Amino acid sequence: MNYVDAIDAPLERDGSIKLHGPEGFEGMRKAGRLAAECLDMLAPMVKPGVSTETLDRTAFEFVIDNGGVPACLGYRGYQHTTCTSVNHVVCHGIPSPKPLKDGDIVNIDVTVIVDGWHGDTSRMYPVGVINRRAERLINITYDSLMLGIAAVKPGNTTGDIGHAIQKFAEGERCSVVQDFCGHGLGKLFHDAPNILHLGRPGQGEVLKEGMFFTIEPMINLGKPTVKILSDGWTAVTRDRKLTAQFEHSIGVTKEGCEIFTLSPKDLHRPPYV
Ligand code: MF3
Ligand code: CO
Ligand code: CO
Repeated sequence: MNYVDAIDAPLERDGSIKLHGPEGFEGMRKAGRLAAECLDMLAPMVKPGVSTETLDRTAFEFVIDNGGVPACLGYRGYQHTTCTSVNHVVCHGIPSPKPLKDGDIVNIDVTVIVDGWHGDTSRMYPVGVINRRAERLINITYDSLMLGIAAVKPGNTTGDIGHAIQKFAEGERCSVVQDFCGHGLGKLFHDAPNILHLGRPGQGEVLKEGMFFTIEPMINLGKPTVKILSDGWTAVTRDRKLTAQFEHSIGVTKEGCEIFTLSPKDLHRPPYV
């Protein structure tokens, strides 16, 4: 893999890993903050009876009203601002008019563009009162994301990130989805490198100051295998068991990393009340 200064990089995915300077960090801070504020804004709305379509429409208005553009709208034909993945839906759940019900868990994933920069983040939301297995899965998934983030510093590798996530999640008798991964982002939505949520220490790409990417582990209570529904988007667990995901957009710094999508209201993980 070759590394290029982001200023000289083409605006199409060409396999190179971009290295960004202060201007990129400033841009990603703004984009990341708006995405995180959108998830904060939705927290009190996620209750039994609300539809994911209503949540999506509210997210759309919030992003537009605050100077952003929803990156998913029109992306590869996708028609919505958010992905809303309920219970056994792993990711890319399409917002629907069906009301959420007590005991559901839902991931809301939003990506915004601000001044050309992408902020991509997701969190799990409990709907009403959820059972202990669901609560445990949500906590394991959040902790696995933060352990992956803790492995980010120059000189470490993408394999170190994946290993930290896999070791912890599997140690908790959960499984890691292999079919989707984190990704470089910046002026592009999905760029190099791929960030697998499993791996071996020292393998993969060496991390360098100025790299921007997401970490977004999907963790299952059952088997890791997924299937895509006939709508072409919705990914579900084959065994229909529960799955959870959290996502942050981060930038590699001299010492470690900066998280661009931290919740300004400290709504990092449930309970949000
Ligand atoms: N936000 C998702 C991610 O984390 C991508 C969604 S693509 C869409 O990469 F088209 F489904 F919106
Ligand atoms: Co992402
Ligand atoms: Co996302």
